[in-house]
Amino acid sequence: MPVLQQKINYHELFEGQKMEADKEIKQLKKEIKKLKSESEEMRLLIDFVVHDLKNPLSTIEMNYEIINDAIEEDGSLQKYSGVNSLIKSQIIRMKGLILELLNISRIEGSRLQLNPVTVNTHEFLQSIVEENAGLIKNNEMNLILKTDSPVPDVQLDEALIRRVLANLIVNAVNHSVSSPEIILHANKKGKRVIFSVEDFGTGIPKKDMKKIFEKFGQSPKNKNEKRENHGLGLYFCKLVTQLHGDGIKVKSTEGKGSTFSFSVPSVP
Ligand SMILES: Nc1ncnc2c1ncn2[C@@H]1O[C@H](COP(=O)(O)OP(=O)(O)OP(=O)(O)O)[C@@H](O)[C@H]1O
Ligand SMILES: [Mg+2]
Repeated sequence: MPVLQQKINYHELFEGQKMEADKEIKQLKKEIKKLKSESEEMRLLIDFVVHDLKNPLSTIEMNYEIINDAIEEDGSLQKYSGVNSLIKSQIIRMKGLILELLNISRIEGSRLQLNPVTVNTHEFLQSIVEENAGLIKNNEMNLILKTDSPVPDVQLDEALIRRVLANLIVNAVNHSVSSPEIILHANKKGKRVIFSVEDFGTGIPKKDMKKIFEKFGQSPKNKNEKRENHGLGLYFCKLVTQLHGDGIKVKSTEGKGSTFSFSVPSVP
């Protein structure tokens, strides 16, 4: 075949392939757009459903309070106090889950605005210890606070970081078998303060270290043990700590324990 004819053939072949590829790219772009709008619709649906769960839950909580008052006033109802505190703990769990689902959906949809405030680090962490005192006591554990002295004030979204620390503490409690101790640390590093939750429990297998931060990611070893858990807590922690800086890290040794840390900006 003459060289010129060969060039023309190649050119036509190339043009034809280019047109095919352009068509495919166009189709793919259309599908991405459709998927994006479907996932946004799904997020909004989650927002509505989760938000609407709040009202019946508040009604349940109000009725819990009424029953609780009755139990406290009437000695003959004392036998129901255990059942009633179980209801309370499940209400707290559901409230936390609702808040987490709503915030995850908002962060994923870039619709969450942080509300940063300046707090006194020691006082803030002390209030976290007090808030979790019931859980710690029920599990016959100790939650110890160890902060640098002095430690600077920090800037954070209080409600969100409270949930992050509550999640880490609940996890530490759930996975502590060999030692009753959990330590909550705050250490200054440059212009930031590092918060960490250290436990001396089961630890996490190396192969699962990444997976546990994924949505619904659980270490298979623990999957069947805690059926009521969802594998959402650390995903929520990851999203919130990324909004505050550089995310969350874990150091863990199987059989020895785990330390989860993240940092927040300090206030000069
Ligand atoms: N302190 C810890 N020690 C050992 N394993 C842990 C610890 N924290 C988390 N894990 C592992 O990481 C997994 C994911 O944790 P995450 O908090 O995201 O979910 P969960 O606790 O299973 O459920 P949820 O928090 O949604 O109720 C856990 O299932 C567990 O396997
Ligand atoms: Mg958890």
